[in-house]
Amino acid sequence: MQDTDVKQQLEAELEKAADVNEVENIRVAYLGKKGYITELLKNLKDLKGEQKKEFGQKINILKAEADAKITERIELLKKQRIERMIEKSEQYDVTLPCTLEQGSYHPITLVQREVEEIFESMGFTVEDYSEIVDDYHCFEALNIPKHHPARDMQDTYYLDNGQLLKTHTSAAQNAIMRKYGAPLRAIFPGRCFRNESTDACHENTFFQMEGMMIDENISISNLIYFMKVMLSDVFKQDIKVRLRPGFFPFVEPGFELDINCLICGGKGCPSCKNSGWLELCPCGMIHPNVLKAGGIDTDKYTGFAFGLGLTRLAMMKYGIKDIRDLNSGNLKVLSQFENI
Ligand code: PHE
Repeated sequence: MQDTDVKQQLEAELEKAADVNEVENIRVAYLGKKGYITELLKNLKDLKGEQKKEFGQKINILKAEADAKITERIELLKKQRIERMIEKSEQYDVTLPCTLEQGSYHPITLVQREVEEIFESMGFTVEDYSEIVDDYHCFEALNIPKHHPARDMQDTYYLDNGQLLKTHTSAAQNAIMRKYGAPLRAIFPGRCFRNESTDACHENTFFQMEGMMIDENISISNLIYFMKVMLSDVFKQDIKVRLRPGFFPFVEPGFELDINCLICGGKGCPSCKNSGWLELCPCGMIHPNVLKAGGIDTDKYTGFAFGLGLTRLAMMKYGIKDIRDLNSGNLKVLSQFENI
């Protein structure tokens, strides 16, 4: 085949490719070891001098163009897919047979990775922390002394040795402050547990993503800015949010950041307890007692913390109506998500 034919044929095939996998196959067919363009290069050995140089350059340009065209097509297909999902024309279907032979990532993993990437690009490090913690880290270090009524909201599962399954990712705040000191920017995703009766929007096991930023002159405006950037990046559309006062002993002032329910569009449905709003990201300015417990100089530093509900975020992003589907282990449901 002539190089001009190759170019035309590639363009025609890319035009027809309906998904990213097809485009990847085309990439192999053209740029792979035995691909059309790679084969063309083999003609070089029959040419000499100026001709050889000219032909070599031509093929290299063709290669670069092909690569750019392939990437462009992939980007376009991804964009179209996101648009389709946003239009909700592609909600998941619990009754669809599972046809995937290959494993797939859990929707929470997909959302977690996406949020991690967003925060990493803003200079946050990603930290890991145990699921089994002690009373001090889960409560006391967070300004929740024994017998404080705030503990009622966070009943959990206790081990015989007095340790417990962490009720929130805030349980890692103290250890991370002690590990890095100030200034500090960190996020720490994790599985949390609470003794809850389950329904469409409550589970005894769920995921959160905690974030902390501690530095000189950190204020509520910094907190709002980071939350807005993150939400618009995750949803790739403008999201209606509301901030209202919220009480958590480890922040002062504390807020509840709610987003407009994307499942019912704010009309009210079981997924949002019929309120049209979903508590997505409680947050606030870290209480001085908590900073002190973490060894931070409160005369010099302030900071904000947030506890993003990763499970809820995945539900909103993918239009999952019942939280219990996520822990069901039901592959019919779980294999329908992919990173878009
Ligand atoms: N840890 C709190 C919860 O799970 C959420 C939170 C985190 C609130 C950080 C404020 C700041 O209920």
